[in-house]
Amino acid sequence: MRLLKSSELRKLYLDFFREKGHAIIPSASLIPENDPTVLFTTAGMHPLVPYLMGAKHPEGTRLADVQKCIRTGDIDEVGDTSHCTFFEMLGNWSLGDYFKKESIAYSWEFLTSDKWLGIDKDKLYFTCFAGDADAPRDTYSHDRWVEMGVDPSHIFYLDKKHNWWGPAGITGPCGPDTEIFYDTGKPKCCPECDPSCSCGKYLEIWNNVFMEYNKQADGSYVPLAQHNVDTGMGLDRTIATLQGVESVYDTDAFTGIIKTIEELSGKHYKDSPEVTRAFRIVADHIRCATFILGDPRGVTPSNVDQGYILRRLIRRAIRFAMQLGIPDNKLDTVAGAVIAQYGEVYPELTANREKIMTELDKEETRFQKALRNGTREFERIKGSFENGVIDGATAFHLYDTFGFPIEFTEELAKENGLRVDAEGFKAAFEEHQKKSQAGAEQRFKGGLADTSLETARLHSATHLLQAALRKVLNDSTISQRGSNITAERLRFDFSFGRKLTKEELQQVEDQVNEWIQAKAPITCEEMTVDEARAQGAVGLFGDKYGERVKVYTMGTFSKEICGGPHAGNTGELGHFKIKKEEASSSGVRRIKAVLEY
Ligand code: ALA
Repeated sequence: MRLLKSSELRKLYLDFFREKGHAIIPSASLIPENDPTVLFTTAGMHPLVPYLMGAKHPEGTRLADVQKCIRTGDIDEVGDTSHCTFFEMLGNWSLGDYFKKESIAYSWEFLTSDKWLGIDKDKLYFTCFAGDADAPRDTYSHDRWVEMGVDPSHIFYLDKKHNWWGPAGITGPCGPDTEIFYDTGKPKCCPECDPSCSCGKYLEIWNNVFMEYNKQADGSYVPLAQHNVDTGMGLDRTIATLQGVESVYDTDAFTGIIKTIEELSGKHYKDSPEVTRAFRIVADHIRCATFILGDPRGVTPSNVDQGYILRRLIRRAIRFAMQLGIPDNKLDTVAGAVIAQYGEVYPELTANREKIMTELDKEETRFQKALRNGTREFERIKGSFENGVIDGATAFHLYDTFGFPIEFTEELAKENGLRVDAEGFKAAFEEHQKKSQAGAEQRFKGGLADTSLETARLHSATHLLQAALRKVLNDSTISQRGSNITAERLRFDFSFGRKLTKEELQQVEDQVNEWIQAKAPITCEEMTVDEARAQGAVGLFGDKYGERVKVYTMGTFSKEICGGPHAGNTGELGHFKIKKEEASSSGVRRIKAVLEY
């Protein structure tokens, strides 16, 4: 087997598929265009969905690329040996061109031929779809692998959980897959150990998806007119596997980045398990943040959508950098190492170097400020705890709103003769995670990425504001054109043709405050879009909603389709105050407002 560097694998892969008549296409942006179902590109197939559904691709029916991807669902796992938020996916596509026969032959040749990777075929294991009520057992792929020379004892049939692939959104092109694993040579963890086992004996290196179905909103699978192939090979993971190193962070892709962190911290990467974990988190998060900031459609840190994920990544990196003793405002140096490693393949990073550095620095300064505010908040509330225990909800509030690491809260508590209800914090944290899990990659219409109490309350106030505008201006066609909520304020854009008068603004404000004072419960129900419409819920019905939607009701005044989360009662919202009304664009007005307590 050839020992490859990551740049070599990247090149070999594209060379191979070029030889097989594939057009090499550039990586699409990390931020999907025209797709409200995900925040980031999560797989190579993502930008190609229209073509998998039958649209004609200008480069033809055989494509290959290296796609930048982000998956943040497992952000808390980063620090172990294999999880990364950013990764590069090598992929080849047939858009209604070849199917299983050629796809399997290509993978076999690339992996085993001495001209390419030259992997010993005895080290390779395979899985195929076992079949169920939706689609038949994939005996074709099984038999094709055997034809290639695979011993049948190396092939396993697994169910949909393992051998089926579809996009992150609920509907769309999908199908059975056949996955290729590398046997690390470790002993089996148990007699049943097979490629579905996560003990680390078998590592997945490639996934060939045979996209022949279109999943419908009702959960059924309709055959696609066009049979496609979508394959994905994670670059870092494959290199780590083939090099036999312990983790992706031990591959050449990370050498320069880890060395920079060693220089900044004065520590060695493998000093202790905690230090190793902190190194990996800083390396991964700053790599990911650098790619987001440097993307042609790049965003900056904020409290919504991609900007919020970016903020989380940077702040988490800062915390672990502090733990490593890296001086303040040095993460741009780590970003410099990322650019040095990737700038040639991704010239957008070099082109946006200034922006990347400045934004990282600015966010770090903001975070230091948030930590100071959090400390003040802590000073303010520290006398109010019963039995000297900081309850879980408060610890989570400090974490979520002020970016206060739980370890900080625990330290401060100790200094003040208090202790933290760690179990309560964990429960609040898990509850939040459940809510935001999907939020990490899957975006719900109108949902908030930041689920802190402050933003939830401002979000509820936004619903009341919309209802009040419709009432006061006596115009039921007023509809939302945009909404941006931070922990400090709301910003609501709505369709309306003229400036509001002072009196009207006062009436709107008074109306919202009246509804707040009514202390009306805020309830949430799930239903179909048709049911929501029948109940008169406000919503952008032209939008792409999921199968079922959430409808939030506030007393008798407001009913809106929305992802939430919201406060539990309008009485929690304090005093509503409009700060500004202005034009946003033609026919669209913008109101900024706050809640005062
Ligand atoms: N789209 C497939 C995956 O991401 C190849 O695994």
